[in-house]
Amino acid sequence: MNQYISDNKERFINELLDMLRIPSVSADPKFKGDVLKTAEFIKSKLEEAGADKVELCETAGYPIVYGEKIIDESLPTVLVYGHYDVQPADPYELWESPPFEPVIKDEKIYARGACDDKGQMYMHVKAFEVMMQNSALPCNVKFMIEGEEEIGSKHLSDFVRDNKEKLKGDVILISDTSMLANDVPSITTGLRGMSYVEVEVTGPNRDLHSGMYGGAVANPINILCQMIASLHDEHNHITIPGFYDNVEELSQEERAEMGRAPFNLENYKKALDLKDVHGEAGYSTLERTSIRPTLDVNGIWGGYTGEGAKTVIASKAFAKISMRLVPNQSSAEITEKFQRHFESIAPAGVRVVVKPHHGGEPVVTPTDSVAYQAAARAYEEAFGIKPVPVRSGGSIPIVAMFKSELGLDSVLMGFGLDSDAIHSPNESFGIFNFMKGIETIPLFYKYYAEMSK
Ligand code: BES
Ligand code: MN
Ligand code: MN
Repeated sequence: MNQYISDNKERFINELLDMLRIPSVSADPKFKGDVLKTAEFIKSKLEEAGADKVELCETAGYPIVYGEKIIDESLPTVLVYGHYDVQPADPYELWESPPFEPVIKDEKIYARGACDDKGQMYMHVKAFEVMMQNSALPCNVKFMIEGEEEIGSKHLSDFVRDNKEKLKGDVILISDTSMLANDVPSITTGLRGMSYVEVEVTGPNRDLHSGMYGGAVANPINILCQMIASLHDEHNHITIPGFYDNVEELSQEERAEMGRAPFNLENYKKALDLKDVHGEAGYSTLERTSIRPTLDVNGIWGGYTGEGAKTVIASKAFAKISMRLVPNQSSAEITEKFQRHFESIAPAGVRVVVKPHHGGEPVVTPTDSVAYQAAARAYEEAFGIKPVPVRSGGSIPIVAMFKSELGLDSVLMGFGLDSDAIHSPNESFGIFNFMKGIETIPLFYKYYAEMSK
């Protein structure tokens, strides 16, 4: 199989570059045609690779690309999940080369979606081709590749709920996370959940002269900043009443075990140009980004932001706020607690509206399952090193639903690196990582089929 992979390396990369040229930004309706084109692209590549029943499953939003290869009903079935939509590329001016004109530099592919998730998702399409061409597919496989992950997977949730028979399988396989380093492979064993809200603070009914009215009426931007600042105390704990109520506390042993994962704080700071890190008292950086919940402002706006100075008290101020959740917190409950608290701390001089956006539940995946063990063997064989289990700080909302609706655990075989800068300008994906993924995935199938017997 490895011979076939190296013989076809250039074509595999070129196909990925072709897909990266299509700007499949799900958040912006302006790219609708391109998002749909990307779905068609994957459909034809799955067909070429040898999948059966390949179709675009229409939803009220973007379609889900489905395809399958059932070689024997009595064998286990792997369900591959990935997403073909990408985050918006703004701010464009910070890209060294245009986000949808992929280039290869220093053995890395630079483009929006290179790692998240087109590059990682495409490894599965190519790994499938490799197994088909080498008569080495050892079990059944079903693909479901969606186009709305970056906007909350709403229609995939409906699709999963309505298509339990079609999606019958034994395990979900996903490459949409990262590893610690190319010489420290890791398997993600947890994802945080999410509550996302938008807040609007209204003061006077129109923008005012800041000299005539300043000091006498509530300035919504001042107030919003105060309200947001009060959401953390001096220990960086979140102050929303009941926020930590159900948070799973890890034992000292579990935390000590986590602390053994290779992590260098000096390199971490250097990579981000930081004098120091910042976060909840009593927890390490790795803990702060995995087992602890957080609250962050993702955007804040209002008033005059153009050239020069304008003396004005704006009528309105806005912010977008995300909360990352950990096991036993519920997205709906946290959103409600946020809403109640945020409204309660508003002074009488303003009106506050909290608008909930998408949410998602946290997950922890087992490490004693056949699928995890098979994945660990695959990494060990491909990288020559045993992979470390790590809980990630990111979210893939549908993973919790795969468990609750289909009863299936996921194996998160990520091949990206944190330095790939997903969601940022100059996103990249290493050629090494792309090719290593294509090499490791068939090993997973092999061990999973063998160990399931
Ligand atoms: N692939 C990421 C999630 C991820 C990244 C998990 C790195 C682990 C490590 C995914 O595409 C993503 O960006 N998810 C969003 C959530 C969604 C509801 C917008 C996120 O985590 O912000
Ligand atoms: Mn992703
Ligand atoms: Mn993403």
